[in-house]
Amino acid sequence: MKDNLHKSKIYGLYKYCNSPSKLNRPQGYDLHKNIKISSNLFGLKTSLYWNVITLGKARSYILTDEKGGIAHYSFVMPKCYKFPFMRSQKSGDIEIGPCFTREKDRGRGLYPYVISQIANSHNKCGAIYMVIHNKNTSSIIGVEKAGFKRRQSLKKTIFKSFIIIDDRKPEKP
Ligand SMILES: CC(C)(COP(=O)(O)OP(=O)(O)OC[C@H]1O[C@@H](n2cnc3c(N)ncnc32)[C@H](O)[C@@H]1OP(=O)(O)O)[C@@H](O)C(=O)NCCC(=O)NCCS
Repeated sequence: MKDNLHKSKIYGLYKYCNSPSKLNRPQGYDLHKNIKISSNLFGLKTSLYWNVITLGKARSYILTDEKGGIAHYSFVMPKCYKFPFMRSQKSGDIEIGPCFTREKDRGRGLYPYVISQIANSHNKCGAIYMVIHNKNTSSIIGVEKAGFKRRQSLKKTIFKSFIIIDDRKPEKP
């Protein structure tokens, strides 16, 4: 999987389209919502990076196990230079990601559950996007379960922002 991920440089732009049938909270995990990234130590490197990029406006959702250990985190980003396809911050558009499930907790539906929770709570605010590497099958399966559909193809510029590379015009949110 890792090798494939490095070979292709194309990403999919996924957009939240519909609420799927209710995804239940995986048993034994607690959801913590809308945590300010600066107040958390988990995924420290990732948190610091995104805090700088979004000027502290990024948030996160986490699932903890019975012992309080972090089994999954998903970040929620406002418009920033990385995502030029999004409208202004006022529009309420968000991008979900990066997301991560601890290896021993994978395959239990933590990821689709968390992103569907995020999508449901932001549904009335604006468009909800995710950027996923073309070869990241586990992630693609998870986001489709949560009600996202692939809309366009993206590539990363040398400045690490994601630009749309197909001719098709982005449809209105
Ligand atoms: C992508 C990722 C977040 C999915 O998390 P998850 O909580 O395991 O999600 P799910 O339980 O829905 O599993 C998704 C699919 O992964 C595959 N999978 C199942 N068990 C797995 C395991 N033990 N290890 C790896 N993949 C597994 C299956 O295809 C599964 O779909 P299925 O349940 O319909 O068979 C996780 O694999 C991860 O953290 N990967 C590294 C970081 C990453 O790629 N993040 C996403 C991009 S932002």
